[in-house]
Formats: sequence, C-alpha cells, structure tokens
Amino acid sequence: MYRETVVVTGGAGFIGSHLCERLLAKGKDVLCVDNFFTGTKRNVAHLVNEPFFELIRHDITFPLYVEADGIFNLASPASPVHYQSDPVQTTKTNVHGSINMLGLAKRLDAPILQASTSEVYGDPEVHPQTEEYAGNVNPIGPRSCYDEGKRCAETLFFDYHRQHNLEIKVARIFNTYGPRMHAEDGRVVSNFVGQALLGEPITVYGDGEQTRSFCFVDDMVDGLLRLMESRDGFTGPLNLGNERETTILELAEVILELTGSSSEIVFEELPEDDPQRRRPDCSLARKELDDWSPATSLRDGLRQTIDYFDNLFSQYDTTALHQ
Ligand SMILES: NC(=O)c1ccc[n+]([C@@H]2O[C@H](COP(=O)([O-])OP(=O)(O)OC[C@H]3O[C@@H](n4cnc5c(N)ncnc54)[C@H](O)[C@@H]3O)[C@@H](O)[C@H]2O)c1
Repeated sequence: MYRETVVVTGGAGFIGSHLCERLLAKGKDVLCVDNFFTGTKRNVAHLVNEPFFELIRHDITFPLYVEADGIFNLASPASPVHYQSDPVQTTKTNVHGSINMLGLAKRLDAPILQASTSEVYGDPEVHPQTEEYAGNVNPIGPRSCYDEGKRCAETLFFDYHRQHNLEIKVARIFNTYGPRMHAEDGRVVSNFVGQALLGEPITVYGDGEQTRSFCFVDDMVDGLLRLMESRDGFTGPLNLGNERETTILELAEVILELTGSSSEIVFEELPEDDPQRRRPDCSLARKELDDWSPATSLRDGLRQTIDYFDNLFSQYDTTALHQ
C-alpha cells in the first residue's frame, strides 16, 4: 500500500506535535521539520522511535529539498514574547519561509496548508470576524513582524494559487491552548496555569473584561486535517477557533478553581496594541468542514492543560519561571 508522506514545518511545536501524532495515527509518513526556535525535541520524543516519523532540524528561511505528498506549514513563533524577541527572523520565517515552502509545494505539485492567524485582523472593528473582514493592522508596531508577516504569507499563498495553480488551504487560527504549550510564552492560559500551580499572583492585564475565545488543541488539529482534506478548489481563508467568548477574568477564576490554588488576582497595565475583543465567526468552517466545531469544553481542556503543566513542573526546577 502506498503511504503518503506529509511535511509538517514547526512540527516540534505545540500545535505541530499534536498534528504529527494525528497524521501518524492516520497512517501517514511524517517529516517533522523544525529549527527548535520555540519547539523542543521533548514535544516529539515519544514519536522519534516510530517507524514512519522523521525529525529534521532545518530553518525554513532556507530552501528544503525533500519528497512529499503534502505540506502543513506551521513554522513560526506564535506568542508575542517569542516573535518579538527576534522580529526580523519572525518576518523572515513567515515571508522567506513561506516562499520556500510554496516553492517546494510547486515542485512537488502537492497541496500546502498555511497556519495563518486571527492576528491578520489586528485590532478588529467588527465582531465577530468573518473571513471577508480585511482587518485593522498597525504596520509599524511591536506586533507587526508577526501580523504583517502572516498577512504577507497569505498574499504569497494566494498568488501561488492564482499564478501557478497551486492547491492551497489557508487556516486563520484563533487562540489555541492545551498540553505542550510553551510554559514561558507569556500567553494568558500558560501564564495563569503556571502562576496558579506555583502559587504566584495571577496577573490580569487591564480590567480583565477583554475577551478571547479559546480552542482546545485536539479540536484545532481536527479542523486543520479536515481543511487539508476539504473539497478541491476550496482555499479558505478559513477561521478556526472557538466562538464562545470568555473574559480574561472568568478564565482566571476557572483556573483558580480547577487547580485549587490560593493565588490572588492582581491587575496590571494593558500592553500596547492588545485587542479588546477577538472572536471568530466559524460559519464557513461548519459549512465547508462537515459541521466542524470545537467539541472540548473549556473546563475539560483546562484540566488536561493543568495536568500537563503539573507534570512538567514536577520534572524541572521552576524557580526561574515567571520572575
Ligand atoms: N497557538 C495559537 O494559539 C496560534 C494562534 C494562531 C496561529 N498560530 C499559528 O500556528 C502555528 C503553530 O503555532 P504554535 O502555537 O504551535 O507555536 P510554537 O511556537 O509552539 O510552534 C512553532 C514551531 O515552529 C518552529 N519554527 C519557528 N521558526 C522556524 C523556522 N524558521 N524554521 C523551522 N521551524 C521554525 C518552532 O521551533 C516551533 O516548533 C504558527 O504558525 C502560529 O503562528 C497559533
């Protein structure tokens, strides 16, 4: 039987490692490509002895020559702390990296999926955001390397599609959380869970009334797989996320309850360019992906995330965390 080979760039990262697992379970041969900028070997350590899994250390800003039947392009730091630590590399990964992966897909005549982001909407003036909304993005702010890098990547994907007839799928991923999130990525779920488990104050920025929508990683991976398998000619962009809005304060309270932590909540100033609200309109995903919608409740997803961090913290010295 022919076994399809699938490249996953960013495969040693949070979402990528779950995607590699699911692709192996579906009988694919997986080439996991990562430069370990934010991902770790630990995230895929349980896969390296699998006969159909291969881990390649490679930076996608350089060309990659492999044979494959499909590409999931997830390589890019995803959290502000990481993407702002080397903003030029962030833009390069999203722009040069996309050009390299699109070039590979063109040579192979293989479909390619781009992990884009809700950040392409910037600080949105319409709620919820549908795929037609063109966004409200600052081109010169501290978040621009990521937001504009991802916007340019989308442009490249659609130009390769129009100009070279390449089969593309563009997912606009909204906040995703779950096991293997980076402990120090400064994102709200990992921050709060870490602070609660370590008995530190929970830092809420602003008044905590700003909302986010949180999608559990298993549901996100399911959406990405369905998108890759969606009907011929369907390119997206497609919003994938949870339509349920949660205030940051509510999130803090649920995490306190589930961890049984006695940490107190403290309020701090909002960072620059932090959006007040963000929620996807996922009608298109329901229509195109056979009624896809997140199946995991916030509490179930948080329980699994808390277990992961609890286990992680018990394995190494946490005194340097959150200082
Ligand atoms: N997690 C979310 O909530 C979220 C939201 C929107 C979009 N996304 C997108 O989904 C993708 C995966 O995000 P994640 O949360 O798993 O982040 P992550 O940081 O855990 O994973 C990204 C992976 O890409 C790798 N990488 C970065 N630059 C690279 C390069 N130049 N060459 C090769 N590998 C490189 C990192 O080492 C890491 O393993 C990213 O493209 C991100 O922009 C994620």
